[in-house]
Amino acid sequence: MFQSKIAGIGHYVPSKVVSNEALTRVMDTTDEWIQERTGIQNRRYGTKHEETTATMGAAAARIACERAGTSPEEIDFIIFATLSPDYYFPGCGVLMQRELGITHKEVGALDIRNQCSGFIYALSIADQFVKTGMYKNVLVVGSEMHSMGLDFSTRGRNVTVIFGDGAGAAVVQPTNEPNKGILTTKLHADGTYAEKLAFINPGCHGGYHAAKSGDTTNFGYPDPSVFGEMFITPRMIQEGMYYPNMDGQFVFKLAVQKFPEVIHEALLSAGLQVSDIDMLIPHQANLRISQFVQKQLKLRDDQVWNNIQRFGNTTAASIPIALSEAWEAGKIQAGNLVCLAAFGSGFTWASALIRW
Ligand SMILES: CC(C)(COP(=O)(O)OP(=O)(O)OC[C@H]1O[C@@H](n2cnc3c(N)ncnc32)[C@H](O)[C@@H]1OP(=O)(O)O)[C@@H](O)C(=O)NCCC(=O)NCCS
Repeated sequence: MFQSKIAGIGHYVPSKVVSNEALTRVMDTTDEWIQERTGIQNRRYGTKHEETTATMGAAAARIACERAGTSPEEIDFIIFATLSPDYYFPGCGVLMQRELGITHKEVGALDIRNQCSGFIYALSIADQFVKTGMYKNVLVVGSEMHSMGLDFSTRGRNVTVIFGDGAGAAVVQPTNEPNKGILTTKLHADGTYAEKLAFINPGCHGGYHAAKSGDTTNFGYPDPSVFGEMFITPRMIQEGMYYPNMDGQFVFKLAVQKFPEVIHEALLSAGLQVSDIDMLIPHQANLRISQFVQKQLKLRDDQVWNNIQRFGNTTAASIPIALSEAWEAGKIQAGNLVCLAAFGSGFTWASALIRW
């Protein structure tokens, strides 16, 4: 068995900066409300016709490849995590492959749909493939173009103000150096509350989950026995039912419980302690969540990387963007213990410990 390591990390964020003040012009919200509840000041939005989830992923991937001393053509497996894919299918993995000009047919591409914990899930899969010797250059990408799927009316304000666009990527390679690289990953899921943070329509559910839970609104399906028009219905369009929804308080309460839990779990299995962590990269869900976790773990400000103030919540991209920024800033050095942790829609949550 090999060990696997992150050989190169990179990120890309669109140039368009969108302030809280800009959002107040289209919905009933304030800069004070957003900053007080989430810590967010600005976020980035991609430019239509110029960039997509796949192209932003490719931009981040090029940087990660360069820093890993490899070329995209040498990548033998792609793992792409996103909840805002360019197409419903095929996935962004193959679109990014095309974008990067990876033409050899030995490469495989896998799309991951685990929302905020998508990058850690993807990293864990890369780790298993590299450890077994199956692949030598795995490209792991998290990328999101949220801005094209948000409700910019006041109705959507609790979700819309939080999210931003961007991408991060890592190249995972084998290493023979002892006690180096990905030490452990922990992955969890509980679908009990799947709809508490979800993008439900359009979809192929045919009203099943709603009917089962006693929700008689039936998502605009006139008659479940009628074939056709099941993916999207006129009512979904008329009533704007095609946006994400979130029970923010419910998510918040679970997040502050699961983040510390999954970090402790990883530390325990690696025989390490909180005091061994040099840098914690929490998924940038909400600055208040990260601050709560930091306080619980008694970590100093310089041991936690937060950038949600500038980028908002970029879901699967948030961890690799933060990791890349922290590395660029010289805050992650060889030998440092880096801890990644995430919680999000599903619910799924995860952690990773990396000896850099
Ligand atoms: C979303 C979140 C910031 C909302 O904060 P909150 O204190 O829970 O706010 P609530 O949803 O209870 O709403 C409180 C009030 O603010 C209003 N409100 C919601 N969004 C608003 C906005 N952008 N601007 C102004 N007011 C807003 C609500 O309508 C509500 O008004 P009411 O009291 O008159 O009914 C917070 O719950 C949160 O961060 N949750 C976690 C979300 C998260 O991390 N998601 C990503 C997971 S990966």
